[in-house]
Amino acid sequence: MDNLTEKLNQTSLDESLSFPQSLSQPSLQPPSPYSSIVEEFPKFQYELDDFIILQTIGMGSFGRVHLARLKANGEYYALKVMKKEDIIQYKQVEHILNEKHILEEINHPFIINMFCGFQDNSNIYIVTDFSCGGELFSFLRAQKYFTNDIAKFYAAEVIVVFEYLHSKNIIYRDLKPENILLDETGHIRLIDFGFAKHVTDVTYTLCGTPDYLAPEIIQSKPYSQAVDWYALGVLIYEMLAGYPPFYKEDHVELYQQILEGKYSFPAHISHTACDLIRKLLQPDLSKRYGNLKGGVDDIKNHKWFAGVNWEHVENKLIIPPYIPRCRYNGDTSYFDQYPEDYEPYDIQKEEDIYADVFKVIFNFFFFFFL
Ligand SMILES: Nc1ncnc2c1ncn2[C@@H]1O[C@H](COP(=O)(O)OP(=O)(O)O)[C@@H](O)[C@H]1O
Ligand SMILES: [Mg+2]
Repeated sequence: MDNLTEKLNQTSLDESLSFPQSLSQPSLQPPSPYSSIVEEFPKFQYELDDFIILQTIGMGSFGRVHLARLKANGEYYALKVMKKEDIIQYKQVEHILNEKHILEEINHPFIINMFCGFQDNSNIYIVTDFSCGGELFSFLRAQKYFTNDIAKFYAAEVIVVFEYLHSKNIIYRDLKPENILLDETGHIRLIDFGFAKHVTDVTYTLCGTPDYLAPEIIQSKPYSQAVDWYALGVLIYEMLAGYPPFYKEDHVELYQQILEGKYSFPAHISHTACDLIRKLLQPDLSKRYGNLKGGVDDIKNHKWFAGVNWEHVENKLIIPPYIPRCRYNGDTSYFDQYPEDYEPYDIQKEEDIYADVFKVIFNFFFFFFL
């Protein structure tokens, strides 16, 4: 299976869709002299016409993500388009609301920064800073698997992000190499908060990406932040092995494997790494690392991370093992190429039949800035 097919098969739960999209011609205007004005005085509300839509850089469960250029300052952004009809059909309204609200609330150097969000009669749009280094997924598949040191670097940055999110009572719920981007300096930028949720106690929804689902999610048991630590175990395994610990094309068989908890390690993975992975993939919640009395410190103090200075990790002082060569602003060479669909987004439905459903998104935005 080629990497693109593999990735498209790996979309988060809730069927993958494809639908007509638009594409305007790229423009090579230089940054406008008004750049700093845009920064200092962000427009109260943006709309599609403020952007030039360029090529597709990602395809997820709800549609395309485009490289886009803000006309006012010439800067590049990633514009995620989600069709209202599909959001409703696949009962994802709450998830989309969560995505926007959580992105607005959080602010962390290892998390993508949201620039704005808006809607029209047909679609919801979320605009984030463009992270030019591509997905950790592509880098991992190109390398086949990572050395201990490389895997440790990315795992450490993910841990710091999870610690931050959990301190705000947010579960992330969709960790996988496709949702970890690299910025131009080689540090991570976590994207895709479509399944992130505020949870102070427990929650029940079955969501995530099959290979990364903790057993308690599959069993429809109440679950908590501990599912993110389980997913970290899957990620560390996948980074070191080059493939995830549980893998079956058929989801029922895959879930069976996850519930049985049977997996083996390739011989080249070190004993200390295997030990940490076992402690994270622990099905018994009273034994899973990250979920014990010591919390995240149990993970940070594990032997595999011996010598890691966590303060340096947090402050971005560790030099990344790989620095992407982004040659110019808006360079998409680290992204896969997707077939384009040229039907413009701005051919709008005459009326917004879902106006009431999505009203809350923008009302919130309104009060937020008053
Ligand atoms: N800010 C961004 N910068 C660069 N690429 C992005 C950005 N946001 C999304 N992408 C690309 O689009 C893909 C899908 O975006 P994502 O938010 O994960 O959507 P979905 O919820 O549909 O999975 C990502 O895996 C990535 O390749
Ligand atoms: Mg995604």
